[in-house]
Amino acid sequence: MRTIPKSESRSIEQADLTRRPRRLRRTEAIRSLVRETVVRPEDLIYPLFVVPDSRPRVEIRSMPGVWQNRVREVVDETRRAYDAGIRAVLLFGIPEFKDPIGSSSWDPSGPVQSAIEAIKKAVPQMTVMADVCLCEYTDHGHCGVIENNDVDNDATLPLLAKQAVSYANAGADFVAPSDMMDGRVAAIRGALDDAHLTEVGIMAYSAKFASGFYGPFREAAESAPQFGDRRTYQMDPANIREAIREMELDIEEGADMIMVKPALSYLDVIRAARENFDLPVAAYNVSGEYSMVKAAAANGWIDGTRVMNEILTSIKRAGADLIITYFAVDFARQ
Ligand code: PBG
Repeated sequence: MRTIPKSESRSIEQADLTRRPRRLRRTEAIRSLVRETVVRPEDLIYPLFVVPDSRPRVEIRSMPGVWQNRVREVVDETRRAYDAGIRAVLLFGIPEFKDPIGSSSWDPSGPVQSAIEAIKKAVPQMTVMADVCLCEYTDHGHCGVIENNDVDNDATLPLLAKQAVSYANAGADFVAPSDMMDGRVAAIRGALDDAHLTEVGIMAYSAKFASGFYGPFREAAESAPQFGDRRTYQMDPANIREAIREMELDIEEGADMIMVKPALSYLDVIRAARENFDLPVAAYNVSGEYSMVKAAAANGWIDGTRVMNEILTSIKRAGADLIITYFAVDFARQ
């Protein structure tokens, strides 16, 4: 801790004006010379929602600019993102049908699997990540199978592993488990390795909090729980020591990257991730964080572009290497 010498007098005449920090802010050229944090389009991961081809392309009401896409439109969106400088997409799927165990998630011709194959053919340089979770695929909307009115951890693991292997077989570069079951990273790593998919990486949603900021996403992914909430598996927003423990476990289990989610109310957790671990740290700038900016900007209450830049810079400054954000293409194109 630095000690700052205490000045005896506070009168204007005695102010020490040999130190003038404003010199470094005088022009935009100087400001950019001394800028400490820069967000690059390559730091961003663009989330995309895929629906079956039988459905229309629909814009999410609470997320202007974000759509439920059919496979061909996901390919167009991916190409648009790549042309803008974005190098990774993260896919979420809405299936044709839901059941209690989310079995449509490992259908080799499901929307996510089809999208991965189509993207890899059309835009092969793009890194394709796929979210692994059951909530979009179960009729009850929970992230695992239900036993006695709660999510059964151990019964869920093989299902998540099946889904992950299916996405990897379709060509995903990374799978990203977002379910928050204990032991899922080890289960998925083991299943990928058994299937000789040793090159496929795991971006683990390690410190994922039970958050009100996911509201708009659940409209987009049609994944709201039909009873109860996710507090028995997602983390209590009050806990940072537990967040570090979760990250530690995921790393021990074989995660290649760790993630903190949401981002804005958890910048201290992002900083702790950066200081405690050497792996790449991702932060998820989630749906509610996006929607608040869009809504306020649409009302003329804030400058949306300026606030977007400030938010993404703050997440990077806190210590994130990668940012998953619905703003990715807007940012890269501004
Ligand atoms: C699936 C999942 C969620 C998000 C990412 N993966 C929703 C949830 O946990 O309810 C949220 C992403 C966002 O809000 O943008 N479990």
